[in-house]
Amino acid sequence: MSAAGGPALGIDFGTSNTAAVLVRPDGRTIPVLFDGAPLLVSAVCVDGSGRLLVGADARNAARMYPEGFEPNPKRRIDDGEVLLGEVAIAVPELIGAVLARVADEAERIVGNPVSTVTLTHPAAWGPRRREVLTAAAELAGLVEPRLVPEPVAAAAAFVARYGTALPVGGSLLVYDLGAGTFDASVVRRTPDGFDVSGSEGLADTGGLDVDAAVVAYLGAAYADRDPAAWRRLQRPASAEDRRYSRQLWDDVQAAKEMLSRNSSALVPLPTFGVDAPLGREQLEELARPVLDRTLATTRTALRASGVPARELSGVLLVGGSSRIPVVATLLHREFGVAPTTVEQPELIVAEGSLSAPAPPSPDVPGQRPAPAVRLRPVPPAGDGPPDGGAAGPPAGGEPPAGDGRSARGGWRRHRWALLAAVLALALLAGLLTVVITWTPLRRTPGAAAHDGPTATASADPASRPAGSSAPATGAPPASRGQPASQPPTQPGQTKPTVRKFADATGPCISAERTPMNRIGGPAGAAHNVDMLMCLSVAQASGGQEANQLGYFRWDVRPADGTGRVSVAYRLEVYRCDGVRLLPPAGAPGGDQSATGRFGSDEVTTSKVPFQDGTRYYAQLSITSFRYAAAGTTWDTGVLRWRTDCFP
Ligand SMILES: Nc1ncnc2c1ncn2[C@@H]1O[C@H](COP(=O)(O)OP(=O)(O)OP(=O)(O)O)[C@@H](O)[C@H]1O
Ligand SMILES: [Mg+2]
Repeated sequence: MSAAGGPALGIDFGTSNTAAVLVRPDGRTIPVLFDGAPLLVSAVCVDGSGRLLVGADARNAARMYPEGFEPNPKRRIDDGEVLLGEVAIAVPELIGAVLARVADEAERIVGNPVSTVTLTHPAAWGPRRREVLTAAAELAGLVEPRLVPEPVAAAAAFVARYGTALPVGGSLLVYDLGAGTFDASVVRRTPDGFDVSGSEGLADTGGLDVDAAVVAYLGAAYADRDPAAWRRLQRPASAEDRRYSRQLWDDVQAAKEMLSRNSSALVPLPTFGVDAPLGREQLEELARPVLDRTLATTRTALRASGVPARELSGVLLVGGSSRIPVVATLLHREFGVAPTTVEQPELIVAEGSLSAPAPPSPDVPGQRPAPAVRLRPVPPAGDGPPDGGAAGPPAGGEPPAGDGRSARGGWRRHRWALLAAVLALALLAGLLTVVITWTPLRRTPGAAAHDGPTATASADPASRPAGSSAPATGAPPASRGQPASQPPTQPGQTKPTVRKFADATGPCISAERTPMNRIGGPAGAAHNVDMLMCLSVAQASGGQEANQLGYFRWDVRPADGTGRVSVAYRLEVYRCDGVRLLPPAGAPGGDQSATGRFGSDEVTTSKVPFQDGTRYYAQLSITSFRYAAAGTTWDTGVLRWRTDCFP
């Protein structure tokens, strides 16, 4: 609720999508829905009659008026004015049209104009860009907006969700990869707010760049077959070709997103009349330069913060492009901390915007310093062009802050909102320390008959058999300390019972009662998972085909088909002299994933020709084992087990 007692609105204006939340006068926080969905497409389009359309309407109109379409107004923040068809529109007006749609929806929900508004922005935006955003809000009727950096809003949401996982003095690395921008920030929790101790941004890097890499790949693969058809897509000259070109980019984006859940997808090439196949590993390879840039930037932000990676309380993945599964693997490998993923990484900034204290921004008209957040100077401030150009002028190159307009007394009004937010956070933190007890579990059926020597989870690479090489590629390293993908172990949390044993056909590990932490959705009973991994090395006999593979089986109750599992894992098979057999040497690295599975299910490796007289073992690395049921999601975080050699 706002200081004035009316509804408060928080908006995350994004390159592709805009998300918003409302705190109603009764204190309830709700997402603003746009045609039933929590994300508004940030696009605008001027139609044939000169109307400025927004969101899905703009996207639809773009088919008829492609020249009047701007899919990403945020990327035009530096342009001053944009020509849409025949109409020149000032950028604040363009952005203001999107914000006005949000304000309209919010007003429709609460029945009154909103009384306070918070807008988030990339951490790297300097005063000039923040001024454009403020001007856009005011054009949309959202007066005196409070501005909050996106990572601070994300950290506030993290604290609201996980409380003590980020204790006072602890630091959270926020990795925010959206559609058009990337931010890496280290946010330290202070007694009364947050302190951004290191932040680096890439104003020209996001999911759109991955899309561009895929389009370039398709060009390289198909242009030779029909150069004219490719030219029509690349440099469309007619309205029809602009439509086709738009369609191609939309289909590329859809295929990219699908590849986060599936191993292959098809991209229709409209002027060719064919569908181009695209695989998960291919996409990862194409995305790699973009992701490498984000990793380098994250390293710089961490260095600037002075916080060693091992001291991070967590790594939070934010933004739709952080859904690309290899992102979590790369970050984990780089920093040794398993990232926290949330169900809807596009919404978390908006979610935290209202509880985030505003930073002091004396250089932005209408803003007065608030004590709760300190933003250290971020080298370089870089308001670079958002469309992929060279780095822009450093902060000093911007027009001097403040232009003689009077400050609007925002601090006086926001002080109460700030106090309320701090109190709410303290309350939430208290609630989250409540002891969570684990549900009783049955034993994994397959494991029950095989009592063997007790073993513990092997997180130590040194425990690999002599001569064994490190996992060739992509295997996540053992987590340093706590699996940081979740809040730290709750009081009362059990350790899994891990047992190694050999059954008739091969070595196995059972990990019973492996705890999972709740990472989203309403509080409820905690969950455990029973896991079993085996290497089956039975030889062919009597005309039977040999059953030679590794498998990984899980069982989460209730296994009645209502709960769904998604798991990112690597199941590898080694010869005991250290030579890896599966995946084969030439196979690209990276986690595999299985999604949409039931509470009880299994995955297997492909078959492998084992040889008599040779010994083998299997190794399982889990980056994330996620179980969702009745609106709540749990995750184990990082796990790693290795069987004994067999026979
Ligand atoms: N499953 C997925 N796999 C890969 N990318 C995805 C997936 N889902 C969404 N994306 C990408 O995420 C991006 C949109 O994310 P988001 O809404 O967080 O960005 P934004 O807030 O509009 O952009 P920014 O924060 O850069 O201004 C798009 O590029 C979209 O293709
Ligand atoms: Mg965003």
